[in-house]
Amino acid sequence: MNITVCGCGNGAHACAALLCRKGHTVNIFSPLSREVEQFKANYEQNGGLTLQLGDGLLAKAGGTFGTYDQNRKLKLNLITDNPKEVIPASSLIIVIVPAFAHRNILACIKEYVPESSRIVILPSRGGLEFEAGTIMPKARVIAFQTLPWACRTRMFGCEINVSGLKNKIQAASIPADMPQAYFAELEELFDIEIERLKSILTLTLANIGQIFHPGIMYGLLRHNPSATFTEADIPLFYESVDEEIAAILAAMSDEIRTVARELSKVNTDVESDKVLHISDWLRVSYEGLIADTSSLHNMFRTNAAYKGIKTPTVKLADNLYAPDFGARYIVEDIPFGLLVTRSIAGMLSVGTPVIDEVLSSIGRWTDNDYCEKLKAVKSLAPVSRLPEFYGVNSSQQLCGL
Ligand code: NAI
Repeated sequence: MNITVCGCGNGAHACAALLCRKGHTVNIFSPLSREVEQFKANYEQNGGLTLQLGDGLLAKAGGTFGTYDQNRKLKLNLITDNPKEVIPASSLIIVIVPAFAHRNILACIKEYVPESSRIVILPSRGGLEFEAGTIMPKARVIAFQTLPWACRTRMFGCEINVSGLKNKIQAASIPADMPQAYFAELEELFDIEIERLKSILTLTLANIGQIFHPGIMYGLLRHNPSATFTEADIPLFYESVDEEIAAILAAMSDEIRTVARELSKVNTDVESDKVLHISDWLRVSYEGLIADTSSLHNMFRTNAAYKGIKTPTVKLADNLYAPDFGARYIVEDIPFGLLVTRSIAGMLSVGTPVIDEVLSSIGRWTDNDYCEKLKAVKSLAPVSRLPEFYGVNSSQQLCGL
């Protein structure tokens, strides 16, 4: 297949490498010209893209990775910032960027997408069902609940480490009745079992990142959000989850599941039973990679896919780091995750005290009062037709109307 991967982040590296390895023609597109230049330069210097597989994956008995040559240089077809060069020839377009970049990517590619192509969004996070239709009303979109892999770029444009492959993943489409064959094709491409859902709206609630990322950031930093660390002391992210943090995450999960149950009463396409409790989600997603499933906190601590992943930080000075509240764990997973769910909860009159505590604490630490802003937007929405509510934010977008 001719496939374009949109994005140059961790997931894009992993996806491009894994699909190259299967013999597909793979392009990389990003509208961010500087990163494309850098990607190309590093890739060329390295002579290709190297795919490293973490212990967790290699240990997967009987998996497809057992005999993989980790030194092989995988060859991409084109790396470009010009959508016209790659999108028209692509039968599959895979968008792998944080949700705050979906709008930009979709706006850049929309006029070049062939009618027969599918756009796969990995992952959807919250609210994609509202945004995608305003940008590309006719597109055929398949969205995933999360990324199939746990992965980190080791060297930009050169080397990607994939530490985990999930067993099973949820996906849904717009339009909802897309042929099953497209889902089967993706199962084969990604070596993963897909559980097809009726509505992308279910994925908004099943979005696990909205619990894990803001929830663990809150849990780790709730007693001292101004903490600083030496490089050696930067806390591990998932492996630092203790019983108390696990209880916070479980409570957030319970609240979201209540929202899903209430939503399914008004929209019968929403399958509330598919919005799993986080313990069940971990078991289903990472069966075989978790050494100790006896409790939620032990599942985080002993999941091989989470091994070594550190709390995001910014460097303040030599060997001095602070938590990075500008990381995607916050700027993606709150406005494109937890806040979307909180908004839906409000419409359904479902109380979410633990989510509110997480939102208002992180809001305080970042000088960004999410709950108050949500109130302000909600007060404006029914009495206005602001272009911003329909994804129109710039003069260029006004031209295209
Ligand atoms: P990343 O942070 O590595 O992605 C950064 C890339 O996004 C940039 O290199 C750029 O190509 C693109 N980007 C950022 N801002 C942009 C903009 N304004 N316009 C256009 N492109 C822009 O993210 P990563 O790790 O690849 O994750 C992708 C998605 O997968 C996210 O939603 C993340 O939450 C999710 N995910 C990632 C996992 C992982 O192990 N990396 C695991 C589970 C989910």
